[in-house]
Amino acid sequence: MADKNKFLLFSSKCLRDDRILVAFKDGLAVGFAGLQYDKKSFIDANLRQTLKIFGLGALRVALFGRMFFFNKAAKNEILIDSIAVSANEQGKGIGSKLLQSTIDHAQSKGFSQIKLEVIETNQNARRLYERVGFKEAKVQKIPYPFSRLLGFGSVTEMVYRL
Ligand SMILES: CC(C)(COP(=O)(O)OP(=O)(O)OC[C@H]1O[C@@H](n2cnc3c(N)ncnc32)[C@H](O)[C@@H]1OP(=O)(O)O)[C@@H](O)C(=O)NCCC(=O)NCCS
Repeated sequence: MADKNKFLLFSSKCLRDDRILVAFKDGLAVGFAGLQYDKKSFIDANLRQTLKIFGLGALRVALFGRMFFFNKAAKNEILIDSIAVSANEQGKGIGSKLLQSTIDHAQSKGFSQIKLEVIETNQNARRLYERVGFKEAKVQKIPYPFSRLLGFGSVTEMVYRL
């Protein structure tokens, strides 16, 4: 989402505030975890809205997303759809706090597990998830030539049991 104006338009129209945990530092948002559960994701956008804001480029993302990342939260579980911390704030414990807050949130709502996906090239993030207590559940291989286009060959699903 390199275009700030499009991003702001998209956020104001398509993000659900009941499915996002936001980390603030000195009044600025520096990280977030976007959740999916009970059949609702933190992004509440249909294809028409997305195309209107991002144009045809959105189709490529939607296509790949549907093919390889279309994970859904089952009953009783929370899926962390997305987690990120501002580049200049990484490595300071914010990601760990977002994960812990997600665990607390899941516990308070009575969910039995939390899952997420991590790509093979993101070993730093994977180490963090393992340290917090997530365990590898399954690995999805990305077939060639998609692996080449995407720049990675597999996606691992990791699960935290409550
Ligand atoms: C992955 C991410 C959310 C972690 O957040 P964070 O605030 O940097 O995490 P923390 O500071 O709590 O934990 C840092 C740990 O994560 C690891 N880590 C992951 N990415 C890191 C980064 N870019 N810089 C520093 N540490 C990173 C370190 O190994 C560190 O482990 P340690 O505590 O054993 O030394 C964040 O680095 C990020 O936004 N990365 C880019 C987006 C991304 O990859 N999202 C995950 C998709 S699955």
